[in-house]
Amino acid sequence: MVGLGAWQLGADWGDVTEADAHATLQAAVDAGVTFIDTADVYGDGRSEQIVGSFVKDKPGLTVATKMGRRLPQEPSNYTLDNFRAWTDRSRANLGVDTLDLVQLHCPPTAVFGTDEVFDALDTLVQEKRIAAYGVSVEKVEEALTAIARPGVASVQIILNAFRLKPLERVLPAAAEAGVGIIARVPLASGLLSGRYDENTTFAADDHRNYNRHGESFDVGETFSGVDFQVGLEAVRRLSPLVPDGATMAQFAIRWIIDQPGLTVVIPGARNPQQARANATAADLAPLTPETREKVAAVYDELIRPQVHDKW
Ligand SMILES: NC(=O)c1ccc[n+]([C@@H]2O[C@H](COP(=O)([O-])OP(=O)(O)OC[C@H]3O[C@@H](n4cnc5c(N)ncnc54)[C@H](OP(=O)(O)O)[C@@H]3O)[C@@H](O)[C@H]2O)c1
Repeated sequence: MVGLGAWQLGADWGDVTEADAHATLQAAVDAGVTFIDTADVYGDGRSEQIVGSFVKDKPGLTVATKMGRRLPQEPSNYTLDNFRAWTDRSRANLGVDTLDLVQLHCPPTAVFGTDEVFDALDTLVQEKRIAAYGVSVEKVEEALTAIARPGVASVQIILNAFRLKPLERVLPAAAEAGVGIIARVPLASGLLSGRYDENTTFAADDHRNYNRHGESFDVGETFSGVDFQVGLEAVRRLSPLVPDGATMAQFAIRWIIDQPGLTVVIPGARNPQQARANATAADLAPLTPETREKVAAVYDELIRPQVHDKW
């Protein structure tokens, strides 16, 4: 299933106007998207508010949000009182009594091993503030720890042609446990769209400029942790694999859809054209085993040495 990532509708990707944000959501839904991923911290609530005003009176849409990054990333902040306050703010921003899905937003690793945190999340479900909870993680080990928790409904993790490690253990473990997998950063922050070259620049308020080396948050969230020049070379080698009539971005999304255990892939889009194109990637034929092997070969040669052991 293809959903929509709504980080772009908040901030950190250069300017996206409110009109563009609404048009992007509308284009995604018109193309069949029913799952939208946002966070309380995207534009400090702007993304949630825009999504909330859009989904109002539109039944059948699922909105997943995230909490926990508006305070310093310290385990002591992951308390029931804070969870109540954070979810109250998200409920107001999204205009709902019960949030469909709340994800811990890449908390410190120690949080995944803390029973009280998951007891508090269970309490939120009992209080009907949230219908379900999941986690967003940086590392494979964090995903595996979360999957072992009985109440965790979903794990959000970076998975794309430049990030193959989750295929080894995380997707099989999630399928076995009945936990949903939400694949984020599917286009490696746009690198896998094939649109960039050595001369491409990004706005000052775009994380692909200001977080290129992990200055503000985990470097893996920007270009999937791949050096920009190396990524360009890998994309050039992948481009002959793109099926006729498809774009590189659609190819990259289809590659993710084909992975066993995948629940939803959430490409971010900053305009209606991107949202529409991404949703229709699901209409492409599944990629052949030969094509998947060639993707893995490019990964092994160029990307694996840079990222595989880090996350
Ligand atoms: N820690 C976390 O939990 C976390 C972290 C990161 C992301 N996320 C979630 O995952 C979602 C997806 O990840 P992401 O947005 O970081 O990265 P992404 O989906 O890999 O890349 C998004 C970028 O790809 C380009 N793009 C999108 N569709 C395109 C198309 N059809 N053709 C050409 N280019 C296209 C756009 O770049 P341009 O801007 O250059 O047009 C867009 O801004 C986010 O929106 C967010 O909801 C969560």
